[in-house]
Amino acid sequence: LTDVSKPQVQSSPAHNPEAQNPQVQAEATRRRTFAVISHPDAGKSTLTEALLLHARAITSAGATHGKAGRRGTVSDWMAMEQARGISITSAAIQFEYRNSVINLVDTPGHADFSEDTFRVLSAVDAAVMLVDASKGLEVQTMKLFAVCKQRGIPVITVINKWDRPGSAALDLMDEIRTRTGLVPTPLTWPVGIAGDFRGVIERSTDEFIRFTRTAGGATTADSERISAAVAATEEGDAWVAAAEESELLAEEDQNHDQARFLAGETTPVLFSAAVLNFGVQHILDTLVDFAPAAEAREDAGGGHRAVSSEFSGFVFKVQSGMNSSHRDYVAFVRVCSGQFRRGMIVTHAASGRPFATKYAQHLFGKEREVADEAWPGDIVGLVNASALRVGDTIFEGDAVTFPPLPIFAPEHFRVVRPADTSKHKQFRRGIDQLDHEGVIQVMRSELRGDQAPVLGAVGPMQFEVVEERMTHDFGAAIRMEALPYQLARRTDKESALILGHDRQVEVLMRTDGTLLALFSTPWRLRNTERDHPEILLEDLAAGA
Ligand code: G4P
Repeated sequence: LTDVSKPQVQSSPAHNPEAQNPQVQAEATRRRTFAVISHPDAGKSTLTEALLLHARAITSAGATHGKAGRRGTVSDWMAMEQARGISITSAAIQFEYRNSVINLVDTPGHADFSEDTFRVLSAVDAAVMLVDASKGLEVQTMKLFAVCKQRGIPVITVINKWDRPGSAALDLMDEIRTRTGLVPTPLTWPVGIAGDFRGVIERSTDEFIRFTRTAGGATTADSERISAAVAATEEGDAWVAAAEESELLAEEDQNHDQARFLAGETTPVLFSAAVLNFGVQHILDTLVDFAPAAEAREDAGGGHRAVSSEFSGFVFKVQSGMNSSHRDYVAFVRVCSGQFRRGMIVTHAASGRPFATKYAQHLFGKEREVADEAWPGDIVGLVNASALRVGDTIFEGDAVTFPPLPIFAPEHFRVVRPADTSKHKQFRRGIDQLDHEGVIQVMRSELRGDQAPVLGAVGPMQFEVVEERMTHDFGAAIRMEALPYQLARRTDKESALILGHDRQVEVLMRTDGTLLALFSTPWRLRNTERDHPEILLEDLAAGA
């Protein structure tokens, strides 16, 4: 696929021309940093693997999974360490494709919608949204579209599993338009209905890309490029139907428009069968051709840090206990500007203190060379970085602080206690650590006391992570008890006094100092709002 149109991806002009560093700018311009997101089971792990396969990062899908043991190992990125030519932190995989450097940032593998996913989205410049052709837009698809919209992340939509029976392609486009408000602008259009996937029309050239199956999907799928005239004779009605639909889309102004895509008004759409490697190369080409490069990033003061300024970055994820033989604390940093060099001394914006960086060498496989440098768009893992918290900025040279990462409204609440009260110390340390890592939100009140904090989660799976980590990492087994609340609203001290008289509402203080009022039902919340119009009950909208 060499002749797809290749518009120049523009970088924002640097605000400080003196700081222009052509090498940094050039490296930033060839970076594409993205995440694959989807409702569980749409094929995220399968696609991740297929993308790497197409990037020639691995030569055979069998390198990371045998058929039987595929599940689990695929999303286990550490297993991919064995593959050469790609560099993995437990947070991101990096590989080269068509002279671009692609950073695929991992989102939690477990079937849940957690805060982790949101934070990862703060570290990427684009998202690939996978939709199951037979299921259409599911609950988490909708939530993720909303987060991308709110954070201004351009979304490339991929309709996956086209090899299985599913909805009509035009119906799926209608669903995207009406339910997300984004105008779908297909770059490819399927030839053959869902379940009879013969190939796609590449809409920029009107040519037919025919897919051919390879045994077990073990190598990249073969594809042939065929002219429209030949496709019409060879594919008959399937071609005619697809060509007509593609024209209909053009008439309705559903063609790709780079400016509207970057403005978050449209979403380019591709069709795939990740399990057969069909349509996967088009996804990589679309990232290179259309996804934004690493660009100037807005700071907390509303200014912009040009990519060619001195080094800066922010922590979007922290993790401990990654290496079972050695309890580490690793902070994952998205590089925003400048060159990161192993061992450099940076300033920690929150404390003003110097921070000596070290690469997470022991996170990498034996055979892999440790990268000594990183550029805007890249992800680096810093070891022994316990001074760093999620959202913190580090920089060299001119001071900068990036905006805090969003904290999301919890929807599930549990009281947590140590199973063995003699383990109070371990309990306290573990809960603090998990709070610190952003695994869970921790809330307390005088009434409940220190031994029984309340945990708040966006998705219930977060509780399982807590249970597992408390037992195995901190040696403090826990007991949890669900609380009947569904909604949290931000409140203040005066309002909390009034709410204190209402036995149906509970007010707790989150570790960040925010007072949260918890309600069991929307109906209960409305009643309180009606009875006490004077009190503060603020929506914790995504990102608040
Ligand atoms: P996830 O990470 O988004 O949760 O999804 P995952 O890749 O694990 O895929 C979920 C299931 O969907 C898997 O089937 C996978 O093989 C299947 N799948 C993914 N992409 C496609 C596709 O393009 N076409 C078809 N027909 N199936 C697809 P499974 O039965 O759960 O596992 P397995 O036994 O196939 O490995």
